[in-house]
Amino acid sequence: MAKILITGGSGFIGSNFIRYWGEKYPNDALTNLDRLTYASQGSAALKKSKVRFVKGDICDKKLVEKLMKGMETVVHFAAETHVDRSIQDSQIFLKTNVLGTQTLLEAARKNNVSKFIFISTDEVYGSIDKGTFSEYSPLRPNSPYAASKASGDLLCRSYWVTYKFPVIVTRCCNNYGPAQFPEKVIPLFISNLMEDKKVPLYGKGANVREWIHVDDHASAVEQVLAKGEPGEIYNIGTGEELNNRELTKKIIAALGKDESWIEPVQDRPGHDLRYALDSSKLRALGWKPKTNFDEGLRQTVEWYKNNVSWWKKIKQKGAYKSYIKKQYAGRSK
Ligand code: DAU
Repeated sequence: MAKILITGGSGFIGSNFIRYWGEKYPNDALTNLDRLTYASQGSAALKKSKVRFVKGDICDKKLVEKLMKGMETVVHFAAETHVDRSIQDSQIFLKTNVLGTQTLLEAARKNNVSKFIFISTDEVYGSIDKGTFSEYSPLRPNSPYAASKASGDLLCRSYWVTYKFPVIVTRCCNNYGPAQFPEKVIPLFISNLMEDKKVPLYGKGANVREWIHVDDHASAVEQVLAKGEPGEIYNIGTGEELNNRELTKKIIAALGKDESWIEPVQDRPGHDLRYALDSSKLRALGWKPKTNFDEGLRQTVEWYKNNVSWWKKIKQKGAYKSYIKKQYAGRSK
């Protein structure tokens, strides 16, 4: 029985990871440390999981040190993740993504944790017009969010080089799937269309993202835990690239609507044009994604259709409404 601390296990990727892990390894003892922020809405994915839940902040040194005792593995998902929010106000991004990561690394090192996985992101590399980023590409983050993740990512490297603390970094492309908070493009657009609202497409819709189903991200982390080398970095990508206009058309078609539902809006400042990863290093460990984008999108739309009360409850909250207003009001082109 492995003892695993999952941080941010109530968020989108963390909660899907807990569900995935719980189904495959029901005897492992999982602890989920989560601050329950606005984005901690993963209970929909966690319905059947057996996991010890601890409400708390990864920046809380005392709590983190207590929880780390006897832990063998840490999978660190907890983060502020939304680029647009980091453009509005970046302080909490620095606190959670940098200081929170440092607090965890330090407590884990002191308690001889034998594996620490840091869930980083492809955004640390910045934008690439052609070709792909490898794990050796320079880090050129362009948003405050990406800069905060790059800082946490580099801190992990320093713990390996300085202390030989066995940390592994994964850098994944854009995730989608069930119970993703409806501020990210896919769930925002699906739920807007279901409410007969237009979908706000930034700029020309020419920006390209590489998409992965959240379960394929979970299986990639599983593979890294089983076969990854300490001190190494692994890109997690599918090669399934789409520009935002193509993506939007697919979502619209899945909801049986037409392109008149697209509302072009002013672009995101500093908007990265394209992310694309070379994930051959991870594939050499034996991993490959299972769900192609069209099938994954079909399942995801199904999930949002079957869980209307989950996203409606979120979208009705005052804090959500004021975020949306601040983000989109007056941006129509
Ligand atoms: O690449 C991995 C990253 O993917 C993660 O590290 C981030 O935490 C995650 O938020 C995501 O970042 P993006 O900025 O790529 O995701 P988002 O869903 O915000 O936007 C995806 C694309 O869609 C991006 O090019 C901006 C565009 N977009 C987004 C929103 C919210 C729109 O055109 N309209 C929108 O309303």
